[in-house]
Amino acid sequence: MRDYYSARAAEYDKIYLKPERQPNLREMETWISGVFAGRLVLEIACGTGYWTQFFAPNANKVVALDAAEETLTIARHRVPPGKVEFIQGDAYELPARTESFDAAFAGFWWSHIPLERIDQFLRGLHRALEPGATVVFVDNRFVQGSSTPISERDDDGNTYQYRSLSDGSKHRVLKNFPSREELLSLVGPYASSAAYREWDYFWALEYTLAA
Ligand SMILES: C[S@@+](CC[C@H](N)C(=O)[O-])C[C@H]1O[C@@H](n2cnc3c(N)ncnc32)[C@H](O)[C@@H]1O
Repeated sequence: MRDYYSARAAEYDKIYLKPERQPNLREMETWISGVFAGRLVLEIACGTGYWTQFFAPNANKVVALDAAEETLTIARHRVPPGKVEFIQGDAYELPARTESFDAAFAGFWWSHIPLERIDQFLRGLHRALEPGATVVFVDNRFVQGSSTPISERDDDGNTYQYRSLSDGSKHRVLKNFPSREELLSLVGPYASSAAYREWDYFWALEYTLAA
């Protein structure tokens, strides 16, 4: 995963140019801009900072983490300095920080977590957050004709896609498409309230971390 996104960094943002997805993206960008107003946000797997650029201006501060230095370099140029600290790190082994985060965001990360690691990831994330924190995930819905076809499913139920980069390399990438019910049941034990919403091409899960 990390190697694939390192190699893809320079062409990553092409995914946001798919014409059929533009109306959904504009709605989501407007929505996410206000969700973290005044909050101290921990962003996981920030990539090139596509989503950071929309919510950072209204946040108090953002610490945005990604495993790949190549995507972080693009993000650092995209988002004006000041509010955002970009750091390299592992989403499964979050660095100890002195801040107490009251919000977390991850865009298009959930779909890449192996099913057997989701609970481990959530527990690690929640340890970094204050009780009552707002947590938001956004990701893809599978849409026939627009999404890359699923090539296989492993014994744990994870699904995979084959993706090509402009240098001709081919990569097998874990990409899951959870249902509303799966998402709500996975965060249920940790949330005092949770809401799922969807657009044609995307879903969002927003919950409040229980005390
Ligand atoms: C699909 S991209 C999403 C990027 C960005 N959030 C967005 O929505 O445009 C997934 C990101 O996860 C990062 N990544 C992969 N494994 C990671 C890990 N173990 N810890 C942190 N980031 C990781 C990749 O470098 C890549 O930037």
